Amino acid sequence: MLRRMHPEQPKGFKFTPKNMIWVKAQIKKYPKGRQASAVIPVLWRAQEQEGWISQPAIECVAKILKMAPIRVFEIASFYFMFHLSPVGSVAHIQVCGTTPCMLRNSEEIINLCKEHISSKAHSLSDDGKFSWEEVECLGACANAPVCQIGKDYYEDLSKDSFLEILDELVLGRVPKPGSKIKRFASEPKGGLTSLKGKKENKLNASVARAVKLKDTIKRIEE
Ligand code: FES
Repeated sequence: MLRRMHPEQPKGFKFTPKNMIWVKAQIKKYPKGRQASAVIPVLWRAQEQEGWISQPAIECVAKILKMAPIRVFEIASFYFMFHLSPVGSVAHIQVCGTTPCMLRNSEEIINLCKEHISSKAHSLSDDGKFSWEEVECLGACANAPVCQIGKDYYEDLSKDSFLEILDELVLGRVPKPGSKIKRFASEPKGGLTSLKGKKENKLNASVARAVKLKDTIKRIEE
């Protein structure tokens, strides 16, 4: 898929002082003269700060890493984890549309995004709070259909559970990630068939951490 810069660009981009300290620490991980190797974490930090990768952000990263801006753009446009358009101020929802999710009705989830967020992917809702896109396999096919919001996965989705997630976000709350049919991980729907004696925690490690940190949709603000 051809990915281009957004037609509307901000005037500039600057890392916050705290993020700049973080960026310099990343560069130090690489041998002298190889600062360009830090391009992906530095771009990622730019996205964590702004929500997306703008042209000024690309130019800023290129300057810091002493790279040609086109080289940084090549990287930002190659990896779909980098958003080249502005995203919703509350959440950008990435719905998996690859075969296992499609067979489990991901199209219904995509239609809900069109209905409740915006008729087109990569554009903002009227209030600017939400955006969405269809993505390729998120690697959680056993729990299809799946969407990623910020740092976390929402799995075993149905129309109703997806609308509940949207409602929570609208109310300013962080919906609980993980399986929406109360699966611990990706065990059979009817429960474990082996290792039954194993004592389980209530939540798997990733969901427990997400619930503790509540940083699913948090941006780096400083
Ligand atoms: S196909 Fe959707 S997570 Fe793999």
